[in-house]
Order: sequence, then C-alpha cells, then structure tokens
Amino acid sequence: MALYRNVLKMSSYQLKRSIASLSALSETHQMLQKTCRDFADGELKPIAGKIDKEHFYPKEQIKKMGELGLLAVTVPEELNGTGLDYLAYAIAMEEISRGCASAGVIMSVNNSLFLGPILEWGTPEQKDKFIKPFTGGDRVGCFALSEPGNGSDAGAASTTASLQGDRFILNGTKSWITNGYESEAAVVFATTDKTLKHKGISAVIVPKPIKGLELGKKEDKLGIRGSSTCNLIFDNCSVPKENLLGQPGFGFKIAMMALDAGRIGIAGQALGIAQAALEVAAEYSSKRLAFGKPIVKLQMIQNKLADMALRLESARLLTWRAAWLKDNHKPYTKEAAMAKLAASEAATFVSHQCIQILGGMGYVSDMPAERFYRDARITEIYEGTSEIQRLVIAGSLIKELGL
Ligand code: CAA
Repeated sequence: MALYRNVLKMSSYQLKRSIASLSALSETHQMLQKTCRDFADGELKPIAGKIDKEHFYPKEQIKKMGELGLLAVTVPEELNGTGLDYLAYAIAMEEISRGCASAGVIMSVNNSLFLGPILEWGTPEQKDKFIKPFTGGDRVGCFALSEPGNGSDAGAASTTASLQGDRFILNGTKSWITNGYESEAAVVFATTDKTLKHKGISAVIVPKPIKGLELGKKEDKLGIRGSSTCNLIFDNCSVPKENLLGQPGFGFKIAMMALDAGRIGIAGQALGIAQAALEVAAEYSSKRLAFGKPIVKLQMIQNKLADMALRLESARLLTWRAAWLKDNHKPYTKEAAMAKLAASEAATFVSHQCIQILGGMGYVSDMPAERFYRDARITEIYEGTSEIQRLVIAGSLIKELGL
C-alpha cells in the first residue's frame, strides 16, 4: 500500500526513470534506492530551500538518515553499520543529494572520509570508540587534510604532531573542514617528521571538543550552505599516542586512499544534483508555453534535454563502475577520479542548462534551479579539483602504458 501511494505521487518522468534504473540493479540496491528516494522526496526536498537560505544544519534529518543506516553504509553490522557495498553507497549518495546536496555532503564525509579510514586502518579499540558511536546519526566525524597554505598539494602539510612521552601534541591550522562545527571527532593529517615530506605525515584521531582546538569562523559559502565549513586551529592540543591511525608516516597514503573512495561519494552527490536539475527542467518545459506550445516541443529545448541526460547517464555509469571495482577489490583510483570528474562537470552543465531552460525563473530562488547550480560548483572543487582529477587520470594512464 505504501509503495502504491509512493508510486502515485511520482511524476511520470520520475516513474519512467525509476523503472529504467531499477532493472539494472540487484533487489537490495533497488530497495535501498527506493527508500532513499522516498526519504529525499518526503523529508529533504520540501526543506532544501530553507536549509540553503538559512544556513541551517539539518540535524533532525541527519539523525533519521542515521536510523536508515545511511551514515555508515559500508560499515559492517558488528560495528553498528549497515554492511552494504560501495555501489549501495553511491546510489544512496545520489538519491539523498537529489533531495538536498547539503545532507549529501554531511553523509559523504562521515561515511568515506571519517569512518572509511578508521575502518581500514583502525585498531579494535579505535573502532569501538570512533566507529560504533558515529553510525546512528547522533554524531558525525570530519576529515582534516587541507591547510590555508596547501589544498591540492596535500603532501605539503605543515601542521605538526610531535610525540612527547605518550602523547601527540598538535599545532597548526587545518582548513575547509566539512562538518567542522558539528563533528565530535576528526581524522587529522599532521607531520611527525617534516624532513621526510609526505612520508612524514601521520594520521591522528582527535576527539572534539578538546582543549587546544578552536574552530574558525563558519564560512559563508556559495552552495551546500546547510553543512558547516571552518578551520580547525590546533594550539598545543594533546591526544594519546594510541590515537595514531595506522603506522607513523603512513598518513599521506591513508589520505589518498580515503579520497579515492570519497570521490565515488562526491560523484554520487553530483549525480543527485544533476538528476534533480534534469527533473525540474523536464517538468518545467512540459508546462511552460511559448510560441503556442509547451517548450518541450521545441527542438532547441529537446537538444538541451538530450545533452543533459547523456552527460548524466554517462557519469552514472562511470560512478557505478568505480564502485563495482572497489567492491571487487580491483584498482579503482583512476576510475574514481573519472567518475568524480565526469559527474561534477555533468552537475555543473546540467544545472546551467536547467537555468537556461527556465530563463528568468531559473535565476530566482522561487525555483530550485539556481541552488542546484550553486551546489554543483563545489563538486568540481572539494575532494580534489577537476584539474587534480585530470592529473590522477593522466598519471594512472602513463603508468599503465609504461611511458
Ligand atoms: N593510493 C595510494 N597511494 C597513493 C595514491 C593513492 N590513490 N596516490 C598517491 N599515492 C602514493 C604514491 O604511490 C606515492 O607513494 P611513495 O612515496 O611510496 O612513492 C605517494 O603517495 C606520493 O604520491 P605522488 O608523488 O603522486 O604525490 P603528489 O604529492 O604528487 O600528490 C596528488 C598527488 C594527486 C596531487 C594529491 O596530492 C592529491 O590528491 N591532491 C588533492 C587533495 C585533495 O583531494 N584534497 C581534498 C581535501 S579533502 C576535502 O575536500 C574534504 C571535505 O571536507 C569535503
């Protein structure tokens, strides 16, 4: 009955899309997709504009997402996670971000950048302390890699973690930290030996709040305004040496591997924004009359819709392929970079075209098109800019071809 009611609520475009995409997925993935889609339609879409306008952190919705298992999609059940695969995560990220891109990034950072490395490299004690309480939506984590002086050049970290007795003392500033305000723990990358450059970087788990850690101002961003972004300022912040994640000097690799996985999540987020923009553009063009007919009958508009759908579907296939490779323990660095690059550029393109189709209505906040465009832009910047993704792809190609 509930399913029947939900199907009735869908527009014909959504219905056709769901039938088309459902057939390609396993039953588990279809159920997850539908659960996330219903949640996004019922709980996120109606308030996404308010979240954006008021810079409002959707605490209640994040809690509900935690109850649905979306804050720890790939964490095994024995650690309070959902125990699904990365394809499931990519699908969930798309559906949630289709409703609200801010909720998408909060979910993504907790799943792949915070829980991901602890799951991979954490000791049993670290997993008990920093995974189990962070799966249900009550608490979220963050990931602190960038600094005011280095973003793309992640290996040039200057924040220090010096071992004094049985404690690390952290000093320095980490910047652009998503979930900076709400998070209750951070995976922080700091140098334990500057002379070794990237080989001197270590990963340390820092509980929050903690003495010696101040938060910078909340950044006033172009988009994804429901998630907080700020600096983490360490001034003699002391954490036990047991909080070291993995081996000393292995932090750069941990960061790179976390980002490989994270890029699949951001690709999912970008797909969700693009899908939402395509749906709004298609719906609007079927209702808006010009030259005596709905504008969807005009070839110029049809060209746009075709290009939008093409870029979106191509990026979705790249994203699902990258997730499938990860799930099957195959190398996927290049494919994750391709997925993120294609999906983020598709999101920018599709949301741009959405505004174009809506004309003046696309430029005002009565309609969500302008928000999609603002939200899309960050997907080409965080977790590695489009330029960095091209570097990663070219670097892998050069290696593969033995050049
Ligand atoms: N997996 C495992 N190891 C990797 C790796 C990967 N994907 N990529 C590189 N490495 C290893 C290399 O094998 C090499 O190892 P050795 O020293 O043993 O030889 C080492 O790391 C250094 O590799 P490179 O020489 O390629 O490193 P580089 O300094 O040239 O940098 C880079 C490479 C791709 C540009 C990297 O710095 C990078 O990805 N930069 C972008 C950083 C980024 O994405 N930041 C996003 C911030 S987080 C964020 O946005 C979060 C948020 O809040 C949303």
